[in-house]
Amino acid sequence: MRFSHEKIETNLILLAVLVLITVSIGGLVQIIPLFTIETTIERVAGVRPYSPLELLGRNIYIREGCYLCHSQQIRPFRDEIERYGHYSLAAESMYDHPFQWGSKRTGPDLARIGGKYSNDWHVAHLIDPRAVVPESVMPTYAFLERPLDYADIAAHLRANRAVGVPYTDEMIASARADLEAQTDPDADAAGLLARYPKTVVADFDGDTKHVTEMDALVAYLQMLGTLVKFTDYTLKDLRQ
Ligand code: HEC
Repeated sequence: MRFSHEKIETNLILLAVLVLITVSIGGLVQIIPLFTIETTIERVAGVRPYSPLELLGRNIYIREGCYLCHSQQIRPFRDEIERYGHYSLAAESMYDHPFQWGSKRTGPDLARIGGKYSNDWHVAHLIDPRAVVPESVMPTYAFLERPLDYADIAAHLRANRAVGVPYTDEMIASARADLEAQTDPDADAAGLLARYPKTVVADFDGDTKHVTEMDALVAYLQMLGTLVKFTDYTLKDLRQ
């Protein structure tokens, strides 16, 4: 035993090869289970793909770089949970391509912003943050009050399906109608709500003539963190 050890420790190449083998085994044990991603992310009731309008709102969120100042990940620490709500679950961002966890909080975390404010508040805040929060350093986004380009909405759903989001043929076929129904409180939204439960239907910005980028962004903000019913989980589940 002592002899073989000496042999390894005095032979640099042999040592390097054996170290590599040992480290590779450790790496494989960690990495291989992640390839079976279906079991890596625990399924959580309520999590669904984004509605067409929310999806385009999310694209605007990314385009405008909101993630540079806002995270969307509540860490499992007491101060964060008291401020923002239940810590984020992996399943909540399972349909995010790319995810928006972020690493910078110039502004607050937005993972559970849905339902915290009215649509009017969001619109007023995005048009001029200082009108509602005088000390705010957030930029103004008044220009989002322009018509939303959604001619290619079905293609956006198909692209997401290609990377694993379970959009059905029916969802893709009705994408355009669903998008318009979500911004029109007078429309029949039964199909939309069946396909995307808990979707907020509203004329978000009060512009009844157009579906605007503002409508899409506010629809997205209003659904963030609202899909999972955390009262279904007991304290014991949370401690695990
Ligand atoms: C330069 C940094 C910065 C950028 C970029 C930014 N924000 Fe903010 N945001 C802030 C700050 C600071 C606050 C806190 C003050 C306030 O409410 O305005 C804030 C607050 C908010 C709030 C209210 C959060 C709460 O819980 O009260 C929302 C919603 C929000 N931002 C959305 C957005 C969206 C959507 C975008 C992209 C279109 C964006 N922000 C871009 C800095 C930023």
